[in-house]
Amino acid sequence: MADYIYTLETRLSPDQQKAVTLVLDAAKAAGMNLYLTGGAIRDIITGFPIRDLDFTVQGNALKLQKDLERSGAVVGDADAETRSLLLTLPGGVRAEIAMARSERYDKPGKPPQLAPATIIEDLRRRDFTVNAMALSLNEGSRGLLMDPFNGAADIEAKVIRVLHNYAFLEDPSRMIRATRFATRFHWPLEERTQARYESGKENNYIEYIQSSNIGYEIEQLAYEDDALGVLKAYEKEGWLKVLNPRWSTAKVDTAGLGGLMKTRQQMNELGYTPEVAPAVLHFLTERLGDKDISDLRRAIPRKDLVEAWKDLDGNAHSLAKRLMGKEAATPSRTWQLLSSARPEMILFLAVTARQQAVAQKIKNFFTKWRQVQQKVPLPEMTELHITPQMPAYAKIANDVFLLLLDGKLRSRTETLKFLKPLAPPPPPPPPPPPAKRGRGAKAPAVVVAPPAAVSGKQGAKGKGKAATAPVTAVAPIPVKGAAAVKGAVPAKPVVAAKPAAAAKPAAAAKVSKPAKAAVVKKPSKPAKPVKRPAKTKAKATAKKKK
Ligand code: CTP
Repeated sequence: MADYIYTLETRLSPDQQKAVTLVLDAAKAAGMNLYLTGGAIRDIITGFPIRDLDFTVQGNALKLQKDLERSGAVVGDADAETRSLLLTLPGGVRAEIAMARSERYDKPGKPPQLAPATIIEDLRRRDFTVNAMALSLNEGSRGLLMDPFNGAADIEAKVIRVLHNYAFLEDPSRMIRATRFATRFHWPLEERTQARYESGKENNYIEYIQSSNIGYEIEQLAYEDDALGVLKAYEKEGWLKVLNPRWSTAKVDTAGLGGLMKTRQQMNELGYTPEVAPAVLHFLTERLGDKDISDLRRAIPRKDLVEAWKDLDGNAHSLAKRLMGKEAATPSRTWQLLSSARPEMILFLAVTARQQAVAQKIKNFFTKWRQVQQKVPLPEMTELHITPQMPAYAKIANDVFLLLLDGKLRSRTETLKFLKPLAPPPPPPPPPPPAKRGRGAKAPAVVVAPPAAVSGKQGAKGKGKAATAPVTAVAPIPVKGAAAVKGAVPAKPVVAAKPAAAAKPAAAAKVSKPAKAAVVKKPSKPAKPVKRPAKTKAKATAKKKK
C-alpha cells in the first residue's frame, strides 16, 4: 500500500508542511476530524506541483477562523453558506477549509441544498473522480486514502471523468473546470464524460451556472501557470464570455504576461518566490474597460487577491519613484532599497517600468551586481579570522560587498586594508593532547599552533587551501526580505571556515621545534587512572557474586 503520508511530507514545501500542522492543530483543538482533499491529493499522486491545500473538516470550518488568524492566517473569504474559509497561511500558502457537506440539486439553476455530512458523502458532491479523494490526517486513521470513485486509476489512465451523468447539469461550472484541467494536464475527457460535455454545451447548461462559481473560476485562472493557454481554451469553448461578456484574448497584454512569466522564472532561479496571481490578472485584463475590471474584481471571492491586484500600479509607481530618487543614488543604496522591497513589486515593476533607468537598476540587481558578490574575498577574510562565528561577520561582509559595488574598494590590497583593522585577535593555541605513557609513546602532534598568517609565504599557502572550502560554505552577503534569495546566498552562516593556519595542525607540528620541548615535559597524571580502580572494583564485585 502506498505510504501517502510519506509522499505528502516529501512533496509539500516546508511552508505547506507547516500549514498542514497549523490547520491540524486548530482542527484538533476544535475536536474536528480533518482531511486533505481535492486537487492536493491529485497533485500528490500525479507529481504535479501542489498549488494549494484543500482541507475538509467534519464540522463548521468557520469555527477555526479565530484560532488560525492568531497563527498568522489571512482570511480572504468566509462563506457562511458552505461554512468554508479561503485562507492565505504563513509563507503565502493558499488554502481552503470547507465543512464536509452533501449537496442536493432539486432544479437546474437553483443552488443546491447543503447539509453537514461525512467525508465520504462530501466526496460524492465533487466534480471529477481525480478530485474526489481524501487523505485522513487524524490519529488512528492518519494516511488512509479514501477513493470511492477510483480516482487513482483515472490518474493512472490520465483521464478526466465526472462522477455521474448529471454532473454538468447540476453544476455547469464543471464544464469550465473540465476545460481548465484538460488544458493544464493535457488529459482528455473520458469518452462518456466527453459526450455529456458536448450535450451540456449543446443544451446551453451554462446558463444555469451559479454566479459564485463564476467568481471562483475567474480567481482560479490567476493561479494557472499557462493562464493564457487556458484563456484561449475558454474562448474556443465559449466559456470566456461566461466569465465576462467582453473578455477575449485580444484584451490580454500577451507581451506583458510573457515578460512576467520569464522574469518570474529568473527570480525563481535566484531563490525568490514572488506571488504572481495579481499580476497575471492585471495582464489578462489589461485592455478591458474599467467597468468590466470592477465586475471581475467584485466576483472574485478571495479579497486579498483583489486588493493585491488593485495595489499593483500604485506600489510599482512608488517603487519606481524611489528608484529614481536620492535613496537610490548609488549602486549600494539601490541594492539596499531593492533588497527590502517585496519581490512581487520588483517583478511587476521589472515588466512594466517605463523609465529606462529603473529597468536598468532592476536588471543590475538581478545580474551584474550579483557577480560582485563573488569578489568578496572570503579566503582572506578567513585568514583574518573574520568568519561566520564573529557576531559582526554579516555586517562586515555586507559592508565589503557594498563598497565593492560602489567601486570604493578597487583592488585586493585596498580590500585587505579595509578588513585588517576589523579582524579579531587570533584564537589561542589548542591545548596539547594528553601524551601516551610507555616506551612507544610518540610526541604529541600539536603543541603550538603556528601564528595566523595573513601575508607572506605561509599565509599564501594557507590561503590556497582555505579557498576551496569556505567560498561555497560561507554567506558573504546577507540579503534582507522574507522571500529573498532562498538558498542562493544563504544569509545563515552554514559552516565555519577553519582558520587556514590551523587547518593542518599535524603538518605544522612536524616543522615546529617547540613540539619536542613539550614531549620532555613529564605528562601530568592523567585523569584515566582514576577510573581504573572503579572498574577493578566492579570486576571484583562480579567475581564475588559468582
Ligand atoms: N470542487 C468541485 N466542484 C467545483 C469546485 C470545486 O467539486 N465546482 C472540488 C473539487 O474536489 C476540487 C476541490 O473542490 O478538487 C478544490 O477546488 P479547486 O481548488 O478549484 O480545484 P483543485 O482541484 O484544487 O485544482 P487547482 O489545482 O486548480 O487548485
